[in-house]
Amino acid sequence: MLEKKMISKRFGKINPLSIDDFIQFDGYKNLKKALSMEKTDIIEEVQHAYLRGRGGAGFPAAIKMMGLAKETSKEKYVICNADEGEPGNFKDRYLMENDPHQLIEGMVIVAYATNATKGFIYVRGEYQKSISLLKWSIDEAKKKGFLGNNILKSGFNFDIEVRSGAGSYVCGEEFALIESIEGNPGRTRVKPPFPTSVGVYGKPTLINNVETFSTIPTIVEIGGKAFAKIGTPSSTGTKLISLSGNVKNKGVYEIPFGVTLRDVIFELGGGVEHDRKIKMVQLGGACGPIIPEYMLDMMIDYERFEEFDSKTGAGAIIVMDERFDIFDILLKIVKFFAHESCGKCTPCREGHIQLENLIMKFIERKATEKDMLSLESLARVIHQASLCGLGQTSPTAIISSLRYFRDDYVDRIEHPART
Ligand SMILES: Cc1cc2nc3c(=O)[nH]c(=O)nc-3n(C[C@H](O)[C@H](O)[C@H](O)COP(=O)(O)O)c2cc1C
Ligand code: SF4
Repeated sequence: MLEKKMISKRFGKINPLSIDDFIQFDGYKNLKKALSMEKTDIIEEVQHAYLRGRGGAGFPAAIKMMGLAKETSKEKYVICNADEGEPGNFKDRYLMENDPHQLIEGMVIVAYATNATKGFIYVRGEYQKSISLLKWSIDEAKKKGFLGNNILKSGFNFDIEVRSGAGSYVCGEEFALIESIEGNPGRTRVKPPFPTSVGVYGKPTLINNVETFSTIPTIVEIGGKAFAKIGTPSSTGTKLISLSGNVKNKGVYEIPFGVTLRDVIFELGGGVEHDRKIKMVQLGGACGPIIPEYMLDMMIDYERFEEFDSKTGAGAIIVMDERFDIFDILLKIVKFFAHESCGKCTPCREGHIQLENLIMKFIERKATEKDMLSLESLARVIHQASLCGLGQTSPTAIISSLRYFRDDYVDRIEHPART
């Protein structure tokens, strides 16, 4: 079996509205276990697990927990990033809609281990079903004593509030998200200080993705060392994959790290619709690289993805068959980022408009070799000089296409439109 169901093990097996179903399926058992452990031991298990953030950047979760735990402020926050604005990603929605209590349990364990006082789940505004389900589940958890004051008579108090964004992609970036929770426009800022020192309302704050929090109960259950044996040495555990595009079986799959892209697309995805050939696959969402079919034997792990100068660990795989034109796809991606740029820094604000113009020249077959060089250097400037992760990752698709689909560029230059 290619799939390894750890955090998706309850998907379809419980009624997500029923806390009793969750409890019967081992739910909140790991919270009870965690409350009986030393707080430092919980963090140590996460460290042994070498759990890396599942929201894209792959930052070790234990380091954030240690960072928050050492802060002495009376108010400390834990935020779950459920903004999921990256096109092609839908696994956080699956987690929230199929197993909301697993996420809550993970957040309470992290809050307990770090002495956090309050939690927020920042949910993408379009995810109304997730929002209602989470609110309902939080109320149910409070009634049963898993949230609120004196959780399971441990003396620990912790509550969670659901907040929602208004559809801005950049609000998934942690500082923009903090601004949005505070009621301000979603604008980022330069790091340091990091949120674990100065976060929401100026207080120490730990921010993790839905999948990261949802993995914590499993680590408490099986122990960090056992968790680390799954996957590859530096990409441990399992990963939820959002598989979409021209595959037969689109959906969310949980795989151990180390499985190849080809296996995900053909074994889980059932291959390409109408058995067409694959032209390209985009990894991670709009901010990820576009690779050709011959690279599909690549393993899914953080290291491989980082070779593209991009943090693309959120787990989207978008398959495009031979009917698709690389320039049409690039145009859609660049338009998306031009629209979502918050406008704070020049390379991102102005650069995406220029990229759009250059790609249009290739679409209209009016491009020259100089345009190709301009496209390449502009993409690199945006990547290197932008203030936040949006501009730093948005040119990845262009940069990778220039590497792997250069023949398509040359073809457009060598065969211009007749005037
Ligand atoms: C423009 C932009 C959008 C982002 N959107 C999300 C998002 O929707 N969900 C998410 O978990 N992380 C997103 N991130 C990453 C977060 O800033 C942050 O690294 C993440 O929430 C940390 O959680 P993790 O360590 O568990 O991955 C985004 C980053 C950038 C730069
Ligand atoms: S890179 Fe783009 S989104 Fe990020 S701060 Fe600059 S303008 Fe705003």
